[in-house]
Formats: sequence, C-alpha cells, structure tokens
Amino acid sequence: MTNHKIVVAIDGHSSCGKSTIAKALAAKFGYVFIDSGAMYRAVTLYALRHNLVAGGELKRDELIGALSEIKIEFKYNPVSKKNDTFLNGENVEEEIRQLPVSQNVSPVATIAEVRAAMVRLQQEMGKNKGIVMDGRDIGTVVFPDAELKLFVTATAEIRAQRRFDELKAKGEDVSYSEILENVKERDFIDSTREASPLRKADDALVLDNSYLTREEQMEWAIERVEERLDDR
Ligand code: DC
Repeated sequence: MTNHKIVVAIDGHSSCGKSTIAKALAAKFGYVFIDSGAMYRAVTLYALRHNLVAGGELKRDELIGALSEIKIEFKYNPVSKKNDTFLNGENVEEEIRQLPVSQNVSPVATIAEVRAAMVRLQQEMGKNKGIVMDGRDIGTVVFPDAELKLFVTATAEIRAQRRFDELKAKGEDVSYSEILENVKERDFIDSTREASPLRKADDALVLDNSYLTREEQMEWAIERVEERLDDR
C-alpha cells in the first residue's frame, strides 16, 4: 500500500460520461474531483446574464474585459456528494447544465484569454496532486505531466441518447434530434478550435465506453489508477 498521490487527467468528447468516471475515481481514492467544463459553463452563464451573448453573437472583447469580475469556486455538497459550482458566490450548479448554457459554451471556450484564466485556476487546484480532473485539455495543457491520462469517447448517437435521458428525467422539454445536433456541433467546435483543441494526448489511454456498462468501465479505470500507484 502506498500513500503517494497522483494526478488523473480525463479528457474526451462531450456527454461521454467523463465526469461520472472522474467523480467515482475520486471517491474511490479519496481524491478531489474537479469538473473543468463547469468552469467554462459558469463563464458562459455570466456572459448570458450580462447580455454578452446577444442574438447568438458573442461579445468577445467585453467578456475578456469582464474576466476579473468573474469568480468561480467549487464547494462540496454533502447531499449530492459532489462539488457544486459557484459563480460570484451564487450556487449555479443546476443552471449551468441547462440548454441555454450548453448551446453557448463552446464559443466561450474558444477564447484564449478565458482559457488562460481557467487553466491558471485548474493548475492551482492540482498543485498538491490527489486530484481527478476532467475536461478537454487536461492531459495536453493543464497537467501535461499527469501520471494517468484517459481519453474517453463514445458514438455521438449514444452520447446524445444519454444526455436526452438525463434531461428528460429532470423534466426538461427537449428533443433527441436537437440534442444530437448540439453534441455534434460541440464536437466540431471543440476539436477544430485554435486554442487548445480537443485531442488525445500521446500518452493517454483510450476508453471507448459505447458498449460498456458503468461497472465495466469503472473496473478498468480503477485498475489503471492502481497500476500507476504501484509504479513507484
Ligand atoms: O464537459 P462539458 O460539456 O461540461 O464542457 C462544456 C464546454 O466547455 C464544452 O464545449 C467544452 C468546453 N471545455 C473546454 O474547452 N475545456 C475543458 N477543459 C472543459 C470543457
């Protein structure tokens, strides 16, 4: 048994269950779990609330100018057993998951200045290791020296169906085709943007969970962490 801690970086496409895996791994190993997408979502919510996204047009320079006004924090919620996201002191965990934010977050995440601010915060959170962070650029940019990097994926149709089921269960009025379109559009923007595009780090292990049960993929991921812990 070893008590050294590692950094686990989990990247991949949207809605492929990265956060679920990250959260479960963190719980299993007593690590901190950070959903970095929540940070880009919180910035997007700020932009929406301040009319910086009007008629689909993002006021890029104004958002960059407002970055110093945007404070993002995570606080542990003992009921849901996960971190809630706070924007300037307000719990926005629910609101950042809703469609208006999902539909506007990709362009916000393409802004290099927004990314630089988020990456700085993320690196600060991981400086003592013992962290599992999921996102798009965690293994490539945020923690290029992470001891374990996973790249998670699944087909767009399967991801859309999962997202659809999730939103329906929450009582939201959404259509499958709208969600599928949103998933594909986000894949496209995330992988073709100039600033830190989504790509697999050379040393990341691929986990395609299209046809895996939650238990199967967790068993695989836990084994990978244990291997890395045994490496020392
Ligand atoms: O994982 P998610 O769907 O909550 O991410 C929301 C958006 O933020 C998505 O468009 C990709 C972007 N993102 C990013 O660019 N870099 C990250 N590290 C995490 C998310």
